[in-house]
Amino acid sequence: MPTIDSILKETRQFPPSEDFRQHATISGMNSYKGLCEQADNQYLPYWEGLARELITWKKPFTRVLDDSNAPFFKWFDDGVLNVSYNCLDRHLAKHADKTAIIFEADDGTVTRASYAELHRRVCQFANGLRSLGIAKGQRVIIYMPMSIEAVIAMQACARIGAIHSVVFGGFSAKSVQERIVDAGAVAVITANEGMRGGKAVPLKAVVDDAYGLGNCSSVKHTIVYQRTPSTPNQWQEDRDIWWHKLVEGQADSCEPEWMGAEDPLFILYTSGSTGKPKGIQHSSAGYLLGAMNSFRWVFDIKPNDVFWCTADVGWITGHSYVCYGPLSMAATQVIFEGVPTYPDAHRFWQMIERHKVSIFYTAPTAIRSLIKLGSDFPRQHDLSSLRLLGTVGEPINPEAWIWYHEVVGKGRCPIVDTWWQTETGSIMIAPLPGVVATKPGSCTLPLPGVMADIVDESGETVEPGKGGMLVIKKPFPSLVRTIWGDPERFKKTYFPEEFKGQYYLAGDSAHRDEHGYFWIMGRIDDVLNVSGHRLGTMEIESALVANSMVAEAAVVGRPHEIKGEAVVAFVVLKGPRPDGEEARKTVEQLKSWVAQEIGKIAQPDDIRFGDNLPKTRSGKIMRRLLRAIARGEEITQDTSTLENPAILQQLQEPAA
Ligand code: PRX
Repeated sequence: MPTIDSILKETRQFPPSEDFRQHATISGMNSYKGLCEQADNQYLPYWEGLARELITWKKPFTRVLDDSNAPFFKWFDDGVLNVSYNCLDRHLAKHADKTAIIFEADDGTVTRASYAELHRRVCQFANGLRSLGIAKGQRVIIYMPMSIEAVIAMQACARIGAIHSVVFGGFSAKSVQERIVDAGAVAVITANEGMRGGKAVPLKAVVDDAYGLGNCSSVKHTIVYQRTPSTPNQWQEDRDIWWHKLVEGQADSCEPEWMGAEDPLFILYTSGSTGKPKGIQHSSAGYLLGAMNSFRWVFDIKPNDVFWCTADVGWITGHSYVCYGPLSMAATQVIFEGVPTYPDAHRFWQMIERHKVSIFYTAPTAIRSLIKLGSDFPRQHDLSSLRLLGTVGEPINPEAWIWYHEVVGKGRCPIVDTWWQTETGSIMIAPLPGVVATKPGSCTLPLPGVMADIVDESGETVEPGKGGMLVIKKPFPSLVRTIWGDPERFKKTYFPEEFKGQYYLAGDSAHRDEHGYFWIMGRIDDVLNVSGHRLGTMEIESALVANSMVAEAAVVGRPHEIKGEAVVAFVVLKGPRPDGEEARKTVEQLKSWVAQEIGKIAQPDDIRFGDNLPKTRSGKIMRRLLRAIARGEEITQDTSTLENPAILQQLQEPAA
């Protein structure tokens, strides 16, 4: 790792405009440094102050951090609160009529919900959930399209203390089933269908298929939001209930379940390098504090801003910067059901113009795909409402950054490149927009209170310019508490022995430049980042091997212009190595198989067949070789330890 040197040398700097700086919540380097010093010198009082200032407590905490059972840290743990109360009720006195959500459906229909209305609907739905017997600590799967109802479902769970686990609507029945089983869910909230790009996406049918895969007897209720007129094929009277029937006659107020600060708020599954997806478990208070504070500082939120985060609620970004951050700060936000290119590539820019979006937060992969469609689309729209832009999910290449800055932001808007993870719960490293001069491709500096560092294998800080492992050296409130049902894996993965169990290991490599700016270089484990989504190579390999034709499979990534990384699979079949038409057919079969097993996002772009995989004599697959082959690079590595060098040539040939 320490031998990785960055080849990217980016020297351009973009300081915030004087106007932006003057009006920013945190303005100027001195304020930032002051906060950092406070956090450095008085770590616990710093977080204590924020927790008292930002969160409304039912019963205030008296303890800040309990680290007696590290790395199972507890924050504010004798405090009592309710997250949904913090997102809704407490705003009613001043902001009842303020628009909380502007929802734009796939077909362009716009629906608005004020804070009062959202509160009423969350209460009714929460009462509905309670009427089914769903209670504190039970797990509820949410498998929904982007909608106001998805947010209501999450908030209603938070209100009654049920632990939600949102599953991205693009995931397959198999993935849904695995999550139901792992979480031991008692209910699934879904929709009959979703609408994306003019097409109906079945959701209830996928949930039924998930049940059909077995072991889902923990689920007692399916609650189905009717998004489209269509009627589901299957309906089990004693289990399935329409959302609108459930809320019929329910009271529009609902006493929140008062929760301990450390009671879990949600579980969100994410890929790791080995084994099944990890159920990342977040707390109530610490998580909320992270989402709120980062939202107000990084996005510099003001009362009249219109915030739009394009992430789906199925990902952590949709949790922290759709469901919890914006609502807890009484912001107005846009939620979009569809895709950026439907009905055409004007869509995003039209929506910014129509809703006068002032803060726009999206993923580099979306920016790259919009660049490809041409600058004419954004140029035809009035984007003057924008004042701040953001990116998340993967490193942004400087070309895309500059385009975003010039064509979308017209050179006026700071760009906040935000580094964080499902596990960190909230943004960790990002420029405070009224403070930091940005550099294209760098997420710049840690937020005050985030003790990020880059270290070598012995835990020593590496010198500027040298690559190393990104770690966070002190526990922080919004950090993952454990892996659901697997505390040992939590310890091993995130607080490894190499660092004496002291540092949180993010799993990314990074380096710092002479100004202390962080540059993320990629993952250090076998995890791919496809269109900003983390996919474990191991999961895709297991899916492939689960196909009856496949004997063995190895998956690697290769750079992709738009997706960032594309999936390339090397497959050994049980039968003979196919060629011609047969190979083409097998490739198609395996691609649909992966889509069915995991979801379309994991589908390989390229599948190659070999009689074997390149292995060392001890049987280890030589992934570095496979990566070189996938990239079409010449093989310069030593292949003398290879069991069967002849197969390299086979694997270099495209299957069809
Ligand atoms: O590799 C980093 C990359 O995405 C990973 C986290 O993925 P996930 O848990 O799915 O959360 C994505 C949204 C927070 C990280 O380990 N990543 C995320 N943001 C950035 C990034 N890489 C570079 N720059 C970023 N801004």
